[in-house]
Amino acid sequence: MSDVAQGTAVGDAAVVQGTGRLVSNERVGAYHHLTLEVPGLAEHARPGHFVALAVGGPTSANLLRRCFSIHRADPAADTVDVVISPVGAGTEWLAGLRAGDQVDVIGPLGREFPVPEEPVGCVLVGGGYGSAPLAWLARSLRARGCHVEVVLGAATASKLFGVQEAREVADGVTVTTDDGSEGTRGWVSDVLPEAIRRAGGGGNVYGCGPMGMLRSITDVAAAEGATAHVAVEESMACGVGVCMTCVMPVVGDDGRTRMVRSCVEGPVFRGDRVRWDAFSDGLCRVPDDAVGAPGTGGH
Ligand SMILES: Cc1cc2nc3c(=O)[nH]c(=O)nc-3n(C[C@H](O)[C@H](O)[C@H](O)COP(=O)(O)OP(=O)(O)OC[C@H]3O[C@@H](n4cnc5c(N)ncnc54)[C@H](O)[C@@H]3O)c2cc1C
Ligand code: FES
Repeated sequence: MSDVAQGTAVGDAAVVQGTGRLVSNERVGAYHHLTLEVPGLAEHARPGHFVALAVGGPTSANLLRRCFSIHRADPAADTVDVVISPVGAGTEWLAGLRAGDQVDVIGPLGREFPVPEEPVGCVLVGGGYGSAPLAWLARSLRARGCHVEVVLGAATASKLFGVQEAREVADGVTVTTDDGSEGTRGWVSDVLPEAIRRAGGGGNVYGCGPMGMLRSITDVAAAEGATAHVAVEESMACGVGVCMTCVMPVVGDDGRTRMVRSCVEGPVFRGDRVRWDAFSDGLCRVPDDAVGAPGTGGH
């Protein structure tokens, strides 16, 4: 399945499972910003990777780990940061942790955002907590000499994340909110064409956020002659490639669609390789023309 993937696979020896110690838990708008000390994890982490956290403590009935993008990693301090939106039992448990508490962590997982060899214009687009890895990515792109524009959007001002940090690292930042409570009223896709042009036209668009947003920025990038790289957030149970919960249809170099595991073959995919037509109402179906599909043309 390597022909559908991109970025650098996490090496066999580079994934750490360990006990993380919570260094801090800060409320930021609608989110909790957690810093975790995890021996040996940060040095292998790159923007786009994620961690899978056990929730509920050692006797928890919640067997499945919860996955979170790495916001940033500090190898000198052995820490990784994540941004948590409390939406259910697991994330609420994490949001309630205090400094000194312990969490079982596996990471870094997945494939990172591909960083170009040459300096090209880049636009980084984040929706809600999807903005979490973007300032870290912006720093690494700037270090390569890329012009970096950042577009951050959310439903409302309290759900924006990372605006100040983006202003510190990027060449330009545009903010949108659905309700107009901060920045331009509207969606990130409304302002994206102009941001791509400010970055020099063409180039790369990197996206992290809800699936609908990723689909629309892929369309805008194509219309503007840019290449979209998106970090998808398909539901995951194990995060390490064992359970097949996270499969989704992606087109390979040979033009054929395969169901691939977004936790190990992703979560970063080229936007134009994702079969967006298969997603609806929060579900993903197997396209009839996918390799191995039971429908017409699958075999
Ligand atoms: C790659 C990735 C990156 C993410 N990054 C972030 C981030 O940076 N910040 C953030 O806030 N959120 C992030 N999320 C979303 C986050 O993982 C979910 O919001 C979180 O799992 C919700 O857990 P919960 O217990 O609070 O919610 P609940 O709704 O109680 O539980 C949802 C979880 O239960 C599990 N589950 C339940 N039923 C099933 C089933 N039938 N099959 C398989 N699994 C099941 C899954 O692990 C699922 O994630 C990310 C998700 C992915 C995949
Ligand atoms: S989440 Fe288990 S295989 Fe991807």
